[in-house]
Amino acid sequence: MDILVVGGGGREHAVIKALKASRRAGKIYALPGNGGIAADAECVPIKATDIAGIVEFARAKNVDFAVVTPDDPLVLGCVDALELAGVPCFGPTKDAAIIEGSKVFSKNLMKKYGIPTAASETFTSAEEALAYLKAASYPVVIKADGLALGKGAVIVENYEQAAAAVDDMMVRHVFGASGDRILVEEFLEGPEVSVLSFTDGKTVIPMISSMDHKRAEDGDKGLNTGGMGTVAPNPYYTPEIAAECMEKIFLPTIQAMNAEGRTFKGCLYFGLMLTKDGPKVIEYNCRFGDPETQVVLPLLKSDLLEIMLAVRGGMLREELVRFSEGAACCVVLASRGYPKKYDTGFEITLPETERGEEIYVAGAKLECGKLVTSGGRVLGAVATADTLEEAIERAYALADKITFENAYMRRDIGKRALAALKGV
Ligand code: AMP
Ligand code: GLY
Repeated sequence: MDILVVGGGGREHAVIKALKASRRAGKIYALPGNGGIAADAECVPIKATDIAGIVEFARAKNVDFAVVTPDDPLVLGCVDALELAGVPCFGPTKDAAIIEGSKVFSKNLMKKYGIPTAASETFTSAEEALAYLKAASYPVVIKADGLALGKGAVIVENYEQAAAAVDDMMVRHVFGASGDRILVEEFLEGPEVSVLSFTDGKTVIPMISSMDHKRAEDGDKGLNTGGMGTVAPNPYYTPEIAAECMEKIFLPTIQAMNAEGRTFKGCLYFGLMLTKDGPKVIEYNCRFGDPETQVVLPLLKSDLLEIMLAVRGGMLREELVRFSEGAACCVVLASRGYPKKYDTGFEITLPETERGEEIYVAGAKLECGKLVTSGGRVLGAVATADTLEEAIERAYALADKITFENAYMRRDIGKRALAALKGV
């Protein structure tokens, strides 16, 4: 089967490598891919948001299957357009992708169907939001309704900070139309867990759990980023909590989407917070997480393409999805300065990888045959091992062998998870 993958980050590199290992995989195209993905797929310079261009390419090449992973094409209806053109897809339709595309939609869904989440109020005018925030008790979380490159949630400690966030979103429109509506949300506390799941709208099969590290600096300090590293499994996510999540969150969400006439098929990502009142939903994503995918897929023992075909066909079964007992760690190497200003264009030297090691490239391009940096998050150094401790050690050993000017990484990915394992 010839396969088209829409996207061009570290997550897509991980997806492509897993698909490549499938016995049924033929040619793989990445739209647009990146300089690192070029080693594993044919990269075609069509943007992930150029829906018409993607459909035209899929038809011209007669691809048998398409996998759409980034949020924006999904929310724009890329799957609907491809399916209409006769190309079977893995990924939710536009109607279902709204679960990530609108935080107001997903909050209302959770309220209507009794799915545990933070209490919140929705505002469409800055005046009303400010009046509410004057009387609020802090901290609270202010969220733009629509997609905002992962930067649409701000935790504020007082009215001044809240007013600045409202001004950014609703008056200065820094996230465009995404800030026309905002949510003011109760601040929750507890460990965060990411659970990606496969669902065909009937069955939901959670993948191995993971933990993201969103802040730029060690000790969870500094600015929020797209993710500086991940580990899997997440030690806070015990079998008891997993069972509770299945009963109170995962199945009710799938059923709620069905009841709304928005059946979700694809990868549904549950961003959870384990509060003292039980697990609550912080966010839904309509897709694989980045960089969670980079630790989840290396632990998948089953054939990813078979699973994706079963999801598309409404034939998902438990026995199709098997994970190994081990652990994985991904250390992101970024350009120094990310998520603010940074320089690019530096040559990258990659070491040979051994069994249980992967390098997933995110922000790099080929220039005269050389791989050079082109983005904030450049690549992920990933290792799997029997234990989390060993996986972390190996991921850092691998990361230390990768060189480019201005490289930056956190030194404490997995530290909190290890402490939790040891009961500290
Ligand atoms: P989001 O854009 O919704 O994924 O939020 C980004 C990050 O903000 C999350 O990963 C949490 O760390 C934090 N966050 C979001 N909502 C809340 C909340 N209600 N309480 C505490 N932290 C939150
Ligand atoms: N790592 C969080 C996300 O993919 O949104």
